[in-house]
Amino acid sequence: MATRGGFSSRIGFIAAAAGSAVGLGNIWGFPYEVGSGGGAAFVVLYLAFCFILCFPVMATEIAIGRKTERNPVGAFAALGYKKWKWIGKMGIIAGILILSFYNVIAGWAFGYIFEMAAGNFGVAETFGDYTSQVFKVGGYGLVFMATTAFVVSKGISGGIEKMAKLLMPTLIIMIIGLVVYGLTLPNSMDGIKFYLVPDFTKINGNTIYNAMGQAFFSLSLGMGALITYGSYVSKKENIVTAAAWVTVVDVSIAFLAGLMIFPLIGFMSGGTMEGAGGGPALIFVTLAQIFGELGGSLGAIVGTGFFLLLCFAALTSTVSLLEVPVSYVVDEMNIRRKKAVWLVAGVIFLIGIPSLLGNGYSDFFNNFITYIGAENPTDFMSMVISIANESMLPLGGCMIAFFAAHVWKRNNLDDELAIGAPNYKGSFVQKYLNFAIAYLAPIVLGVMFILTVLSTFFGIDLI
Ligand code: PHE
Repeated sequence: MATRGGFSSRIGFIAAAAGSAVGLGNIWGFPYEVGSGGGAAFVVLYLAFCFILCFPVMATEIAIGRKTERNPVGAFAALGYKKWKWIGKMGIIAGILILSFYNVIAGWAFGYIFEMAAGNFGVAETFGDYTSQVFKVGGYGLVFMATTAFVVSKGISGGIEKMAKLLMPTLIIMIIGLVVYGLTLPNSMDGIKFYLVPDFTKINGNTIYNAMGQAFFSLSLGMGALITYGSYVSKKENIVTAAAWVTVVDVSIAFLAGLMIFPLIGFMSGGTMEGAGGGPALIFVTLAQIFGELGGSLGAIVGTGFFLLLCFAALTSTVSLLEVPVSYVVDEMNIRRKKAVWLVAGVIFLIGIPSLLGNGYSDFFNNFITYIGAENPTDFMSMVISIANESMLPLGGCMIAFFAAHVWKRNNLDDELAIGAPNYKGSFVQKYLNFAIAYLAPIVLGVMFILTVLSTFFGIDLI
């Protein structure tokens, strides 16, 4: 077998894994979930889930990857459990589905860079028209996918790691710049209040559930993205501290994204925070309107900067999504990386076309399916999100944790985590991870999977 390559340094791995985690989920998803989910109370729940539930799953995924030096399917076989390969297969399918629609949204964001630079803020008013111009936005999507494929084709240290080391610091500097700018605007403090002063009466079953799903997606868990990245990590590294760093970076950037967006909404709404609950349109409509409000070249500069930043965040994630099926094809089918990359990227782009068409252009894909018990039909992209993000990821996470603790066994997991981490065994962290992986994660994620399937596809709401 050809050499698989690997990360050249600890910081390179952390940058790449954090790059995978930080994406549309943080900068597009998190603020709108906070906005619709009652503000600061949602933030508190999200933070809790990231550290209590997600961090142990992340360490486990990385450990499985490093132990086996394989893609998510090969990893289960390499540990000697061929029957469990389906978890890896499901992960690869989930990754393909996620990338297929994620790239469409990334394409919209990419196009917005040019709209903002040209001072065309009216695009916010006609966002529905924008997404129905499928040849234009599809073209942006094609460029985005090609860029992703180019990076992945350069390999782990020469492509993924190099890009992450460049883009992650740039992104952090840009986001801090925008936060500072936003805080200078009138009424920005009303945004901060909305964002940071929790009102726990706003928490209900739905908020808890959304915060958990958001945390899990945002940390790229449940589909083997981190098994794959873990397979390129050296035995010298301390997995537990690396996973802790990735969690901290991801959470911090989501937090900064809120700190950037809510003051701007405070400014725009004159302090009433109307518009904060804009849902998925928050970035593309509300925020773009605010850039228009800033006026002329100032709006163009801030708006271009924002969507550039969003694209950087998305790119480090699409790269990790593409690497998962690519590593599978390279390891298991013995196809050269370059060829595998362009082949897989092309197929995923095609799978994304119905998601592209179902946002205004095609009635068939706009109203693709009506679930049992639902009044209105659902569009194709929303269906893919429900299947992949909301169902397959929690199920995958549940099964990975269950497998690691009860099939592969906790002592083997501990042995792998202890390599490069001399103080791990006997520590509190070890005891906590053991508990979380054996009981907490399988149960919580399993329940979440069942609730989603019942509620989304069968109209049975238990919460
Ligand atoms: N974590 C990424 C985001 O927040 C999305 C992602 C999910 C990437 C799963 C890889 C795997 O945007």
